[in-house]
Amino acid sequence: MPTYTHSYSIPRVSWAAPSNIALVKYWGKKAFQLPANASLSITLSKAFTQTTVSYESKKVKGLEFEFFFEGKENLKFYEKLKIVLSNLSKELPFLLDYKLRIETINTFPHSTGIASSASSMAALALCLCSIEKEILGQEEDFFKRASYLARIGSGSAARSVYGEFVQWGELEGEGSDFYASKVKAFHQKFSQFRDTILIVSSEEKKLSSTMGHKLMDDFSASQERYLQANKNVLKMLQALKSGNLSVFGEIVEEEAFSLHANILSSSKGEVVLLSPNSLEIIERVRKFRKEKKIDLYFTMDAGPNIHLLYPKNQEVEINSFIETDLLKFCHSYIPDEMGTGPWKII
Ligand code: PMV
Repeated sequence: MPTYTHSYSIPRVSWAAPSNIALVKYWGKKAFQLPANASLSITLSKAFTQTTVSYESKKVKGLEFEFFFEGKENLKFYEKLKIVLSNLSKELPFLLDYKLRIETINTFPHSTGIASSASSMAALALCLCSIEKEILGQEEDFFKRASYLARIGSGSAARSVYGEFVQWGELEGEGSDFYASKVKAFHQKFSQFRDTILIVSSEEKKLSSTMGHKLMDDFSASQERYLQANKNVLKMLQALKSGNLSVFGEIVEEEAFSLHANILSSSKGEVVLLSPNSLEIIERVRKFRKEKKIDLYFTMDAGPNIHLLYPKNQEVEINSFIETDLLKFCHSYIPDEMGTGPWKII
């Protein structure tokens, strides 16, 4: 008697989305998931999240999903995702008609101030966009839609659906608060730009972005901060276009200190994110830059880690400085660089 094997496969999609580091920071909201100021980031390449979503239609309407982080079910992330998916289902009503299985892996430790929410929410949004396209047909502007959806999960994720330099937030009648877009022109001095991420501590973040954005609501200097950021985006666009590395450096460092100063001040000194090792690294970078007259700049996210930003043509000297003078203050590091954006796996 012949044996029949019944094989059917559940449809699935999979995307990899890189993290990004803000050169001009988004810190403060004006309404639900809408930024109080414009921001601008560089997309990374090695630090990314890969997400696979399998979707199976079901009869009973309602949100139903399983979530696996690095192969294991993770209740903490599941609860966070439940809120995100419920918000997203207002935009994507089909989510209520399917049972989802979401599997995700990161190439870097989560919750260390490397924006894992940016890459993970971007990867998820791209998967959901692909499913929407499968079920409902062609999406007119796929990446714009993905950016719009990613923003609902995490603001900075709106910028992770594109490569190179990305801008988010309406400014002087251009751009949008609802989705990000690629910076159109940048000088070749910025191509293959390096970002070596020094992981000073791999401990979980002390301050969630949600709390941080909220602190800005009641902060007396928040309006000045929003104006400063908008001005810095305009200045940065100019610096990127003309290839002015020193103006680029001035802006990124001012932005990094402004973020940390605002966190310190708005929390009335309760939240101190930089560690003694972060400060030691900053000191050494400044000294080296002055001595060698080299284009090595730094920025930070809302955590103790330091992103070192520098052009490719100066990498030999800078990499050897990092190895001999800085790595001893770090837990680990990721030698990353500017990337071309997300890619579809399945
Ligand atoms: O995307 P959120 O809500 O996690 O906020 C990100 C905030 C910063 O990473 C500190 C700055 C930014 O623009 O990415």
